[in-house]
Amino acid sequence: MEALKHAIEDVRARYAAANPLSMEADRGAERYLPGGNTRTVLHFDPFPLTMVTGEGAELNDLDGHRYVDFVGEYSAGLFGHSEEVIKSAVRRALDEGVVMGAPTVHERKLAELLCTRFPGIDQVRFCNSGTEANIWALTAARQLTGRKKIIVFRGAYHGGMIKFPDGHSDLNIPFDYVLADFNDTEGTEALIGAVGGELAAVIVEPILGAGGNIPGDRAFMEMLRKTTQAVGALLIFDEVKTSRIGPAGIQGMLGIKPDLTTLGKFIGGGLPIGVFGGSAEIMAHFNPKHPDHWNHAGTFNNDICSMAAGCAAMGKIYTPKRAQEFLERSEAFRLSLNELFVARDVPMYANGMGSIIAIHFSRKPTKRTSDISAGCRALRPLLHMEMLLEGVLICSRGDIFLSLPMTAAHLSRANDALDSFIERHKPLINEVLQTLK
Ligand SMILES: Cc1ncc(COP(=O)(O)O)c(C=O)c1O
Repeated sequence: MEALKHAIEDVRARYAAANPLSMEADRGAERYLPGGNTRTVLHFDPFPLTMVTGEGAELNDLDGHRYVDFVGEYSAGLFGHSEEVIKSAVRRALDEGVVMGAPTVHERKLAELLCTRFPGIDQVRFCNSGTEANIWALTAARQLTGRKKIIVFRGAYHGGMIKFPDGHSDLNIPFDYVLADFNDTEGTEALIGAVGGELAAVIVEPILGAGGNIPGDRAFMEMLRKTTQAVGALLIFDEVKTSRIGPAGIQGMLGIKPDLTTLGKFIGGGLPIGVFGGSAEIMAHFNPKHPDHWNHAGTFNNDICSMAAGCAAMGKIYTPKRAQEFLERSEAFRLSLNELFVARDVPMYANGMGSIIAIHFSRKPTKRTSDISAGCRALRPLLHMEMLLEGVLICSRGDIFLSLPMTAAHLSRANDALDSFIERHKPLINEVLQTLK
């Protein structure tokens, strides 16, 4: 599509002209980091912005621009950039001493906060990332059931080496995966039945994140609970992102208890963390006071800064009440974007739930990854660049994450930037969607 190609070239040229210092920093970094990068998702063409400072819900880049931060560290940045309660908890922990090589009060407190909050979690173990938490959940499921197969969903992301944007990959941990389609209730039910006695676990993100922030239908999620139980397999909820939705994550909202749950991202107040937990019966296998326990190791599993920050974040700031208020406020914002798109008669839709949103080029909600058209994918770089030029940071794939320090003025900035984008590109959006189905 020539018109789209020219529009993207034009916006990239404007972006490059506005960000000479970030461009130079990116080129300079290429000598020691492949592509100047150490986290693929943060790369986009022509080059990413280099950020220097952050405050509340705003970030400042090397060229002196100030942005409203809707990247929100892909949901880990729930508390923004300068939350005093978290900073003082970390400072206190540092003053008291780090790397103690022994249990501390912090992990015990954080464990209690999480277990009393999420209905599917009686006991937890900590690790250093969401990826690691999912690896532990999957290996525990295999060990417990003595089975090898794991059902995963196309488009799902469960970590750097457990991701399925295009089906199987040799860069994934070589578990015996069987791929299913998210929100395909009948197909997945039949598949679980067919794999049956060989199935160790089904792992599911209740909102398919990287696949387009697609909420799982209640019927689909309930089917997963029922059929995994029927074949003796474990149901793992990856709530690394979705645990921020409401007081007790999606499991609390739907009233579904998974066997294992994984958490991460914001749970550590913005510091590195991973959590896996579940029923007391399953977690008892990790009890070192039992002779046949499973050994769960990790030097930084109870890293004092992460644990102290997590206690402050989950105990003092993101209380169940605050989480409920944030969900309502965020959902109202998401719905207001959809009202804007209808009023502007443009094929765009804010998919997702509450503070987890993705902008799709479609008039309808996206329910399956197969609903995402080639035109929708092709338009994303244009939207992304135009938003950055308006001072509104969003993820290059169209995700928007809200954070607690965001004010009504911040939300209006996103609304206004989207409105300018529509004003500028509406005819092109329609043309692209008619051409690239
Ligand atoms: C749903 C989900 N699970 C797991 C992970 C992996 O977490 P981490 O990046 O901490 O390894 C992510 C990260 O984006 C995620 O979104």
